[in-house]
Amino acid sequence: MGFNIAIDGPAGAGKSTIAKRVAKELSFIYVDTGAMYRAMALYMINTGISPENTDAIREHCTGARITIHYENGEQVVVLNGKKVNAFLRREEVGNMASVSSAVPEVRAHLLQLQRNLAAENNVVMDGRDIGTTILPEAEVKIYLTASADTRARRRVRELEEKGLNCDFEEIKKDIIERDTRDMNREVSPLRQAEDAILLDSSDLTIEQVVESILDIFKQKTTQKM
Ligand code: DC
Repeated sequence: MGFNIAIDGPAGAGKSTIAKRVAKELSFIYVDTGAMYRAMALYMINTGISPENTDAIREHCTGARITIHYENGEQVVVLNGKKVNAFLRREEVGNMASVSSAVPEVRAHLLQLQRNLAAENNVVMDGRDIGTTILPEAEVKIYLTASADTRARRRVRELEEKGLNCDFEEIKKDIIERDTRDMNREVSPLRQAEDAILLDSSDLTIEQVVESILDIFKQKTTQKM
């Protein structure tokens, strides 16, 4: 069994940046579960299924064979034999992922992949239900959040750095809609696990958040010895 650090929180809270840094510091692998849901969403989009068609999502999800491996420390997502990382960050894919991830069959299809990775490796895994459902026994659980304004600002900056045009209000609206969907779905909604530590990154730098998590990790490992 690996040492498991679970980081959950809403879209744009900085989970992936922070989880990646923590993983690097500790020589753990970083598991981005959002990318798995995005790969599933890409499969649905490519199959011509609309977000409203829950029955079709349910029926077709087992057709998405998703595996991950690592190349130079980067998580590579393979969907039915094809590397798909380059397609996963599009807004359309994120929005479809938020909708299709509410379908229980989709979650069940990805659960074992996530648990196996955590059983076989020391991991920093980020997502929405890692501390509550996927790894309830994780040694360290963090709930990372930030205000909707902060998260929208960060997302706009990220898109602009990629040379993409975007509108702040539009992005903020998307973020709020996605939060509402992720927090109110019936299966594995986004919520803070009872034993998770809350970190609000609105007024913290990336370094400060990383340091806090490393401190929590050190406390846990000294307690264990
Ligand atoms: O973290 P992200 O933006 O890449 O995630 C995309 C969507 O996938 C998100 O809106 C909700 C869903 N998701 C989930 O339901 N459970 C996870 N563990 C990770 C992501």
